[in-house]
Amino acid sequence: MITTTGLTKVYRSRGREVTALDGVDLHVREGEVYGVIGQSGAGKSSLIRCINLLERPTAGTVTVAGQDLTALAGRGPRAGKELRQARSRIGMVFQHFNLLSSRTVQDNVELPLEILGVSGRERSRKALELLDLVGLADKAKSFPAQLSGGQKQRVGIARALAGDPKVLLSDEATSALDPETTRSILQLLRDLNRQLGLTVLLITHEMDVVKSICDSAALMENGRVVESGTVGELLATPGSELAGALFPVGGDATGEDRTVVDVTFLGEAATRPVISQLSRTYNIDISILGAAIDTVGGLQVGRMRIELPGRYEDNVVPVGFLREQGLQIDIVDHTADTATAADTAQESVLLKDGAK
Ligand SMILES: Nc1ncnc2c1ncn2[C@@H]1O[C@H](COP(=O)(O)OP(=O)(O)OP(=O)(O)O)[C@@H](O)[C@H]1O
Ligand SMILES: [Mg+2]
Repeated sequence: MITTTGLTKVYRSRGREVTALDGVDLHVREGEVYGVIGQSGAGKSSLIRCINLLERPTAGTVTVAGQDLTALAGRGPRAGKELRQARSRIGMVFQHFNLLSSRTVQDNVELPLEILGVSGRERSRKALELLDLVGLADKAKSFPAQLSGGQKQRVGIARALAGDPKVLLSDEATSALDPETTRSILQLLRDLNRQLGLTVLLITHEMDVVKSICDSAALMENGRVVESGTVGELLATPGSELAGALFPVGGDATGEDRTVVDVTFLGEAATRPVISQLSRTYNIDISILGAAIDTVGGLQVGRMRIELPGRYEDNVVPVGFLREQGLQIDIVDHTADTATAADTAQESVLLKDGAK
């Protein structure tokens, strides 16, 4: 639904050059909720502004719903009209809502329709319908100043839907909201995604946002996408930084000669008694250092950190047994400093969040 290839953005100002996007290849499938996460300055907002051509990419292409927007942006006035139309099919939600304070809620939602030249009656009908959809039917005549943050963002979402978009782009839509309100806005985005078949690309620095509503995610660093995939794919990728942060499980080895293994169960694998089978088959005692079960991106996931007696060399066969069960196995190398590989991955993402 959204594809970027080699997307590059270099800002030039007063002789200085900043490469905000450095060859980004992104593929967002129709009907999914896709999260892009990364530290401040990673290039997330630049990515979203280049996707809707608010910002002109320096190189690379952007295709939305089969239409090459970068090609349209490069041509004359007729293509300019096509580009405007294509853009009206892309809804945009902002962190600070960007509502006009002098206009009522309804008039804010009508604004994009005015620009599209829709008649007054039709505009009014559409705006009221959208306000109903976002749960604000009774606030049509209110002014933005009379609304809570969550309500303002609902207006922002209704306005973004005015042009019947196929795609909704959201830049930190919940960053200015408290946790409770964040949950309700995310739920609204999820509902819209399901009800309207809307494809949602959202930018966030909060892992919880990705965890609660995204089907797929990408991690950005220094203008590049360093990891991407469906939540299931990420969790099944050995050493994935995103997976470690999405699904942390702690626990340190209890002694020197021990092998610590993270076992990730996806879907039905979660219900099989693998650990007791392992213990019985090889006659070894297994300690559980940490465990968690959760739903991540709509997928039932279990992760367990277990400890086997003996060093890794002594445990090649039992570890092989676990792998044969189709489980995702990560050996936690506790010889590398004091922190474990998974902890390090997790911390580095958290640090980035903290740096925001
Ligand atoms: N208009 C601009 N002119 C010059 N440099 C810019 C401009 N916009 C962004 N940049 C630079 O490009 C880089 C990426 O910025 P961007 O806003 O895309 O990051 P971000 O990931 O959205 O960060 P944040 O999480 O803080 O919103 C940064 O180094 C930033 O300073
Ligand atoms: Mg930003």
